[in-house]
Amino acid sequence: MNKLKLGVLASGRGSNLQAIIDNIESGSLSAEIAVVISDQAEAFSLERARKHGLPAIHVSAGGYKGKREEYDALLVRELRKFNVEFVVLAGFMRIITRVLVKAYPDRIMNIHPALLPSFPGLHVQKAAIEHGVKFSGCTVHFVDEGMDTGPIIIQAVVPVLDNDTEDALSARILTQEHKIFSRAIQLYAEGRLKVDGRRVLISDGTNNADAFLINP
Ligand code: GRF
Repeated sequence: MNKLKLGVLASGRGSNLQAIIDNIESGSLSAEIAVVISDQAEAFSLERARKHGLPAIHVSAGGYKGKREEYDALLVRELRKFNVEFVVLAGFMRIITRVLVKAYPDRIMNIHPALLPSFPGLHVQKAAIEHGVKFSGCTVHFVDEGMDTGPIIIQAVVPVLDNDTEDALSARILTQEHKIFSRAIQLYAEGRLKVDGRRVLISDGTNNADAFLINP
């Protein structure tokens, strides 16, 4: 069977990208990375991809200030060049527009380091500590035209400790991100996700226990 062709968009260090690569190489994720694209020329994610022999390209956003849709149209052209079927946002630090969403409807996933709909946006681990929540975590969701608003696929929960720093909480959450992102992509690749309005139903023949991953 043909493997799902992923296009990964990543702006930074690429630890989520690395987890996906590792899970593909170990056989626990049945997909292939067709291309890694970054808006940042120096992104470590590009280096990680090249180290594994994957196509890795920089698509500069310079010259696209105030023209986000035009930039996204450029991204869509690049993704199509590599026959990408499914787009993974792995720390892609740009707000994407309807141009990309419409090109890949219900075929874009994002990972967010909080339990959505709490704490959308940036610096959310710090915000969670300052707010005093006792639990935070991470969310994999389909991407729609809003910011961190799309239908939720899987969440993982981690405790927020009294002496937590932003770095400590971020690291605890990141460990879970690396697990649930690949898990969600695998569920999609197996055809087990059904979007029903705001809800994502996971069919596994029994129940949707997959969605209740707590410190898996
Ligand atoms: C992660 O915390 C992810 O949840 C957020 O951006 C960060 C990317 O980290 N969207 P990395 O580049 O995958 O290491």
